[in-house]
Formats: sequence, C-alpha cells, structure tokens
Amino acid sequence: MKSAANDQTGIAPATGDMSKEDFRRFGHELIDWISDYFEDIEELPVLSQIKPGELKAQLPAKPPSKGEPMHDILADIDRLLVPALTNWNHPSFFAYFATSTSAPGIFGELLAAAFDNKAMLWRTSPASTELEEVALDWLRQMMGLDAGYTGIIYDTASVSSMHAIAAAREGAEMRIREEGMSGRKDLPLLRVYASEQAHSSIDKGIITLGLGQRSLCKIPTDSEFRMDPRALAAAIAADKQNGFIPICVVATVGTTSTSSIDPVPALVPICEEHALWLHVDMAYAGSAAVVPEYRQLVAGCERADSVVTNPHKWLFTPFDLSVLYCRHMDLLRRAFSLVPEYLRTPEQENVRSGSDYGIQLGRRFRALKLWLVIRYFGHEGLAARIREHCRLARLFASWVEESPEWELLAPVPLGLVCFRACPKAASEGADTEATRLDALNEAIMHGVNATGQALLSHTKLNDQLTLRLSIGNIRTTERHVRRVWELLNEQLARLRP
Ligand SMILES: Cc1ncc(COP(=O)(O)O)c(C=O)c1O
Repeated sequence: MKSAANDQTGIAPATGDMSKEDFRRFGHELIDWISDYFEDIEELPVLSQIKPGELKAQLPAKPPSKGEPMHDILADIDRLLVPALTNWNHPSFFAYFATSTSAPGIFGELLAAAFDNKAMLWRTSPASTELEEVALDWLRQMMGLDAGYTGIIYDTASVSSMHAIAAAREGAEMRIREEGMSGRKDLPLLRVYASEQAHSSIDKGIITLGLGQRSLCKIPTDSEFRMDPRALAAAIAADKQNGFIPICVVATVGTTSTSSIDPVPALVPICEEHALWLHVDMAYAGSAAVVPEYRQLVAGCERADSVVTNPHKWLFTPFDLSVLYCRHMDLLRRAFSLVPEYLRTPEQENVRSGSDYGIQLGRRFRALKLWLVIRYFGHEGLAARIREHCRLARLFASWVEESPEWELLAPVPLGLVCFRACPKAASEGADTEATRLDALNEAIMHGVNATGQALLSHTKLNDQLTLRLSIGNIRTTERHVRRVWELLNEQLARLRP
C-alpha cells in the first residue's frame, strides 16, 4: 500500500496518522536508539549538567504550524533532551531510591501506548482489568502476602496511601462522603498516626483529604529509626481522652531516609485494640519481600488492612506503577464509587471496574508492563537481582565499617547504606565539630556528584548530615560500587582539612 506520508521527510499527512512504513522505520530506529542509549549510558553524566532554564531557552516558544520530519524530532531528542536528562538508568545512580526500567518493562509501556485502553470500566478494557487482577495476585503470592488482600494499581505510593487513608476514614462511619468535614460541629478531630520517619506523602495525603496537618500525629522512633509501639499506644490513649477519633496507623517498612522497618507485629495488637486501620507503607521494601530470605518484611501484614508497594521502585518496572493491597475493597469502593448514567453497563454488578476504587476515571494499562516483567524475569530472576543489590549494599557497608575515616549511621537491612565521613580534626568544640562534619560531607557529596560518574543523595539523621547510597538499579554491579567508594575517598582526600 502506498504511503500517504512523505517517506523522504517523514512529515505526517494532513489527516490520519503516520504512515505504516514510517512507523515501522522510525520504530526500528527508535528501538536501536534506546539500545545504544543503554549500551553507552556510562558515557553520560548521571546528573544532568545543564543549568536551570537552559533547555527551555533552546526550544521554540511557539508550536510548529506544520508537521515536522520525524528524523528532525529524533535528532532534537539527541541534541537537546539527552543533555537535560538525569540518567536514572545509569548503573552509578545511587541517589534517593535507585530504580531502573528494564527491557520487558519498556515493551509493556510501548504496547500500553499502542492499545491506549482507558480501563475505567471492565468493558472499556477487559484485558487491562483482568490482567491487573492476575498480575497483582502473582505479585501478592511472590511477596508472601495472604490471600485476603486484593490489589489495585495507582500511579504512585503517594496516591495509594491517600486512598488507603480515605478508605480508613470511610470505615470510621462519620458520613464524611455525604456531609464532608467542614462546618460540622459533630465531628471531632480525626487522628492518623505515623512515625517521624514516615514519608512526606502521608502528610500530603492527609492534607489532600481535608483532614488537616493537625490530624497527623508523628510518633517518635527508637535508636534504629523504628516506630516506638509504646509511644503509639500512649498517643492513642491521650487522643481518646481528649475526645479525638483515631482512625488509622501508617507503619513504614523501609523508610525513605534509612530503610528502617517499623515493628508491624507489635503495632497490630494496638490497632486491633482500638479498631484502627493499619496501613503498611512498603513502597520501597515491598519488592524485597519477593526474596524468600526477606519474607519477614511482611510479618504482621496478615493482620494489617492495607499495604502499598511500588514495583516502579525496585521491581524493574518503568515509572509509574504502585500497588495498593487492601483487605476491605468494599470500603474503598464505598469511598469512591460514583456511576453516572453514561457509565452504566449491563454487566456492572458482576465485574470489577477500576474507576470504582479511586478518584481517577480513566486508568492506564499499567498491569501490562508488570506482567511482562514478572513473566520475563520470573520470581527467581527478580529475587536474584534484588538479593545481589542487598549483597552489594552490605559489601559497601563493610568498607565503611572497616575504615577509621567513615562511619555507618544506620543499620543496613536492604539495599540502602547511610554513612558519613568522620575524619578526626585537631581539637574543636562539639558544635564546631558537628558543623564541620556536616559541611565536609555535603562537600564530598557535591564533589562526587559533580564528576558525573555517580550520584548520591543525603538526609539528616539525629541532626547529622548523612550520605545515602541506594543500590537498586538493574545494571549496577560490584564494579560500580567499588568506583563510587573510590570517588568518595578521592573527595575526602581532596577536602580533608
Ligand atoms: C516509604 C515511601 N513511601 C512513599 C514514597 C512515595 O513514592 P511515590 O513517588 O510513588 O509517591 C516513597 C518515595 O520514595 C517512599 O520511600
């Protein structure tokens, strides 16, 4: 069939999509380009070196009035966008929680874009709806979560946790869906509890739901950054005495700063005693539960109400894909289902429709990439990769421990190491010493990051600036971990007073 497009230039015709010949040609080119990008990624800096506004200044402020040749567009990706990328797929990306995509995950994204299904109702995408159920049940089994959990996909853990808290609030039977929270004299302060190490997404969820930041009670942690169950019990008792209504406890298994693990089994009886919803934020650590030796990560979840895990963090699934496992889908549905006439279908009583369980109507076909990732690597393949990341983290931690000039600042249960340089100074007061070490470690981090060869991030623990090395990228090997250790020591030698 003759192409309607100009094959020479790839310019799209006045109507209709790109010709199939051009689609094939540029599709092949693009896959080749992506393949080269991965192959040569270590030649790129991990952190984008551009200055704020530099990319925008190179892009036309006005849209093109006529279609442009595809090869010009692809050339601009190389010329303009690549320098503006921070390369999360670089094997020496150790910042935040290091995550990466994978080939099967990319194919899943490509196919999802091709199908472009909006899985709001079962009938608008039976494939997406039913594959989601199956893929999430596979993941549940791999993590060792019990069969009482049903999964639902959202974009991010922030959104998953917000939905969990909304379901908890619905379960409190305060008619908030119908009457809201403002202007009500009959509604005392509702309280949600999370440790002081919980992720800021819990604060944001509370704000978004209109509970107000005042509703969030931050519970102190122990010396290993884990929620203190006795402090939780005391806070709940005090709140009840004040006439507040506790509704939910958010435990974190794998906190963002240190990957510390709240003692879920000890929190369960407290939640049960007060009939509180227990939500477990395993956004990061949930993936590690697929490794049989790390199964204890889900201990206590058999008596929790909801669990969030992010395959887009450590399960080699391209961003975004977060899973909320919930034991009370009826409450989630009660909080969010609203079916106007134009969405009514004959089968609605007998099928699951994703839009009944959240604020979104249309939903992407995210399950496809997860299904491809699980099928391609298999349970054992996924576990082997995560196990290796944890081994590398322990190896790096052992170098830190063995060196008199460095120290660990938190336990290393998974793939994250919290540490800092602590070379001895001549003699200084405690305050000056603390300030000196903070400044030194910040300078070391910026020094390493400026080389473009690796990327680290930081946090504060006990008021000390703490460097974080997170290993979770599918391409990271021991060579990369050894190199970042060298870079850190080079910076220390350069900056040492
Ligand atoms: C423990 C924890 N919860 C929630 C989040 C938020 O994840 P998302 O970006 O998917 O909203 C993070 C992000 O790092 C996290 O570490």
